[in-house]
Amino acid sequence: MRNKYAIIIISIVALVVIEKENNIISRVSDKLTLHRTMQTPETPVSSSFVLMDDNSSYPDEIYTENGTQILRASQKGKKHILLMATTRTGSSFVGELFNQQGANMFYLFEPLWHVERMLSLGTGGTNTSTSVWVYRDVLKHLFLCDFSLLESFISPPPRDHVTHALFRRESSVALCEEGVCTPVVKHVFERYHCKTRRCGPLNLTLASEACQGKKHRVIKTVRVQQLDTLRSLVEDPQLDVRLIQLVRDPRAILASRMVAFANKYQNWKSWAVNGEVPVEDEEVKRLEGNCNNIRMSAELGLSQPEWLKNRYMLVRYEDIARYPMQKAVEMYNFTGIPFTTQARDWILKNTHTSAEASGVYSTQKNSSEQVEKWRLRIPFKLAQVVQEVCGPTMKLFGYRFVENEQTLVNKTFSLLEEKEFTFS
Ligand SMILES: *[C@@H]1O[C@H](CO)[C@@H](O)[C@H](O)[C@H]1NC(C)=O
Ligand SMILES: *[C@@H]1O[C@H](CO)[C@@H](O)[C@H](O)[C@H]1NC(C)=O
Ligand SMILES: *[C@@H]1O[C@H](CO)[C@@H](O)[C@H](O)[C@H]1NC(C)=O
Ligand SMILES: *[C@@H]1O[C@H](CO)[C@@H](O)[C@H](O)[C@H]1NC(C)=O
Ligand SMILES: *[C@@H]1O[C@H](CO)[C@@H](O)[C@H](O)[C@H]1NC(C)=O
Ligand SMILES: *[C@@H]1O[C@H](CO)[C@@H](O)[C@H](O)[C@H]1NC(C)=O
Ligand SMILES: *[C@@H]1O[C@H](CO)[C@@H](O)[C@H](O)[C@H]1NC(C)=O
Repeated sequence: MRNKYAIIIISIVALVVIEKENNIISRVSDKLTLHRTMQTPETPVSSSFVLMDDNSSYPDEIYTENGTQILRASQKGKKHILLMATTRTGSSFVGELFNQQGANMFYLFEPLWHVERMLSLGTGGTNTSTSVWVYRDVLKHLFLCDFSLLESFISPPPRDHVTHALFRRESSVALCEEGVCTPVVKHVFERYHCKTRRCGPLNLTLASEACQGKKHRVIKTVRVQQLDTLRSLVEDPQLDVRLIQLVRDPRAILASRMVAFANKYQNWKSWAVNGEVPVEDEEVKRLEGNCNNIRMSAELGLSQPEWLKNRYMLVRYEDIARYPMQKAVEMYNFTGIPFTTQARDWILKNTHTSAEASGVYSTQKNSSEQVEKWRLRIPFKLAQVVQEVCGPTMKLFGYRFVENEQTLVNKTFSLLEEKEFTFS
């Protein structure tokens, strides 16, 4: 019975992947054909515009007769921001800084949750070598306001493009707005129901229309771990992608995860009690692997290869906690999305910054205190292990090491080097 189920799921995943490959292949051949047409002067081009065939899933790519690619006027000035993080780095808060921007924002909170879930159901664990490409393609579709690919990963499958199961719908202002909010349907359990108003199940056609009407799209994800897998997304001429990589002290992340995902971190807890950490343990290796992924992504971004020029920004969560307003302004400036009074007011309200101290360089003592609480919670032994396996990552981001428990809990001793990661 269970086997049968698994086979069905695998078949679905395989179909999706095959379908997707076909799409890419047909697109590539479209492009090639188009290119040839352009380069052969004797082939007359019937009209001044050649529309790409595949307009259903890849809308509005227009080429001029002379081969210059232009984007549709409505596409101009649109921004596509990927907020890339790992769990417990404050990414929900940072996503909210954008979610609250105002009427021109279309924000999605962890849409790849569905993809990860479905893929790991099919393979009994996430197959990283497959999932990275699926993630990238789903992101691309979503940036283009096309939910069709995501739909194939939503469970239960949407009916007529309507779903009551979109993960954390309520975390997106745009998905609970007037035009997207359909009348309530009785007897339908909506786990992720809108908080601001009562709405019926989400009509993804309406969501897509709302998205198209917005200038800026921001997607937050903790599921993309390697920056280099996003290259073709960043280079896609239909998009204007910018990436914000959010990082945090790995010792703080571990401390926070031990609380948030207590069940998964039983081993760490017992190691903390025993005082012995088996460095060869799989979980320690996983921590090391995660740190290395984050570091390699950052190193790639900071090295500013041509394809990432002006498109990559590294932000430390600790700096956002210390200077929320300044950092928000910097991030907005980087993305090219206007910083609205609405966003500003939200920050004032949610960081307890007083109005007088709201200048962009004001320090937010309260949130920086919050962000340091972990120092009292994590046993020194575990902090030491993190320092061992994540050393190079910590060095790169400017997180100071501690030699003993006294220093760890001494809040006068800052664990943060002042470091600028600015590029423009
Ligand atoms: C694409 O759109 C054009 C014009 O809107 C239409 O003529 C053509 O049939 C469409 N092609 C497909 C494959 O839907
Ligand atoms: C190609 O066409 C576009 C739009 O019509 C125009 O702005 C551009 O100058 C042209 N480029 C060349 C090289 O003719
Ligand atoms: C993951 O996917 C790749 C290619 O799609 C395949 O070669 C590999 O065997 C898969 N690994 C697992 C563990 O399923
Ligand atoms: C979803 O919205 C679209 C666009 O308004 C509409 O055409 C469609 O009928 C709606 N679907 C359902 C199932 O109500
Ligand atoms: C905004 O970005 C520009 C370059 O893109 C830079 O010169 C300027 O200093 C930035 N301003 C702030 C407040 O970060
Ligand atoms: C500090 O922040 C916490 C939660 O963010 C809040 O409950 C508390 O009232 C704040 N304290 C001050 C002094 O602003
Ligand atoms: C705490 O750290 C500060 C700054 O490094 C140092 O001056 C102070 O002596 C430390 N206090 C204790 C109790 O170790």
